[in-house]
Amino acid sequence: MKLALSCAAYAALLPLVRAAGFNLLNNWQGSTFFDDNWDYYGSWDNLTLGDVNFVTRDVAFAQPQLTYVNGAGNAIIRVDNVSTVPQPYKRNTVRISTVDTYGLGSLWVMDALHLPYGCSVWPAFWSQATKWPEGGEIDTLEQINMAASNQYALHTVDGCMASTTAPMQGALTDPDCGTEEPYKTQGCTVEEPNHASYGAAFAAGGGGVYATLLADTGVFIWFFPRGSIPSDLSVSNPNISPNPDNWGTPSASYPSTTCPTSTYFEPQHVIIDITLCGAWGGIPGTLNATCPGVPADAPSNYCYTTYVAGDGSNYGTAYFEIQYVRIWSNVTTASSTSSSASSGPSSSSSGHSFSSPTTSVNSTLGNGGSGSARGSAQSLITHGAALAAFLSAFGTAALLA
Ligand SMILES: *[C@@H]1O[C@H](CO)[C@@H](O)[C@H](O)[C@H]1NC(C)=O
Ligand SMILES: *[C@@H]1O[C@H](CO)[C@@H](O)[C@H](O)[C@H]1NC(C)=O
Ligand SMILES: *[C@@H]1O[C@H](CO)[C@@H](O)[C@H](O)[C@H]1NC(C)=O
Ligand SMILES: *[C@@H]1O[C@H](CO)[C@@H](O)[C@H](O)[C@H]1NC(C)=O
Ligand SMILES: *[C@@H]1O[C@H](CO)[C@@H](O)[C@H](O)[C@H]1NC(C)=O
Repeated sequence: MKLALSCAAYAALLPLVRAAGFNLLNNWQGSTFFDDNWDYYGSWDNLTLGDVNFVTRDVAFAQPQLTYVNGAGNAIIRVDNVSTVPQPYKRNTVRISTVDTYGLGSLWVMDALHLPYGCSVWPAFWSQATKWPEGGEIDTLEQINMAASNQYALHTVDGCMASTTAPMQGALTDPDCGTEEPYKTQGCTVEEPNHASYGAAFAAGGGGVYATLLADTGVFIWFFPRGSIPSDLSVSNPNISPNPDNWGTPSASYPSTTCPTSTYFEPQHVIIDITLCGAWGGIPGTLNATCPGVPADAPSNYCYTTYVAGDGSNYGTAYFEIQYVRIWSNVTTASSTSSSASSGPSSSSSGHSFSSPTTSVNSTLGNGGSGSARGSAQSLITHGAALAAFLSAFGTAALLA
């Protein structure tokens, strides 16, 4: 009852969408899911320092296929769970990003049957502008290891705060979306209360839908378990124009009252990736929260040596199975992006790469104030990596595992 009242009040007082009518700009679904408009990263994970290579399109389609459409017509995006990886090499996985970008007035939706999970696994369905953090980042789905439910977050330049009074289903755990001081924050995080939002429970419930609205009214994210998906998000009919104003209280609400989207967000690339270990999930004390047996004196590369290296038997659940990804907008065309963003790694960063054994964390991150130092710091914080914890827990060796 309380919930129904608050939904009604919210809808009545605060329409999220001004102009009715979204146009379908992209529908990635079925046999053509991977054909157009995706960039494959094609580099090791120099963004969040996971122990992975994000493969090129060619490698992703070669055996063992890491992206393909299965017999049910669903897109699979997965970690290589077939190959044996000798130390100190990395394991293959996937990061794909839309070539086009989507600005205020856009709605992106994923309907999935399965999300990647497992100890060391760190998946995300998220977005960022070509310029980061100036253009902002929205983490729709992001979790690590055996976490019980999803976590939402925004990352922006300083000044964007999550409202502490906005109606939402989730629990606001950090209101500060700013990232400008590199060591400061994990972004403004919201915990999803529904355990069916992630992990084995997501799959057991038949999956569900994540929807993100970027509008002049704010950023709003909904999670719908399979049984509660609005009828205007039909798998079989992409031609219905959805109306988020009918969807009830969002899981996460970031209204423009405390974070004006026109100030903090530029058109977004929508991204799907799976990394392993790295600057958030791989920290022993973080891994420890949901995975068993991490010793108190675990070395910084414990996650890598325990899970990533060796056979792939840990990764049988480390895959997305996606019925569709759709992007609607109140305009009729997406923004085209520069050619540099449409081939190869699409990070805007001109930052330092972490691939050299002589790279020191401090000289790369903390000092200099140069563009490259900033770029590297960006990379670490993207997806809410706990940079301070990372710096205290990891040595240079961890970057090279
Ligand atoms: C589209 O949505 C944006 C952001 O919500 C709004 O500013 C703009 O006026 C809308 N445009 C149209 C044509 O409805
Ligand atoms: C993990 O948790 C256990 C039990 O609380 C503790 O004994 C161990 O020291 C922890 N390990 C790390 C790396 O925090
Ligand atoms: C890899 O994972 C798939 C499910 O994604 C599973 O069917 C297969 O048996 C796994 N392969 C190995 C070698 O573990
Ligand atoms: C990551 O690697 C790619 C390819 O080498 C490079 O273009 C990009 O600048 C690197 N990014 C960072 C943050 O090091
Ligand atoms: C790294 O830089 C920080 C901040 O300047 C400093 O406090 C710390 O001692 C440095 N650590 C190393 C290992 O040099």
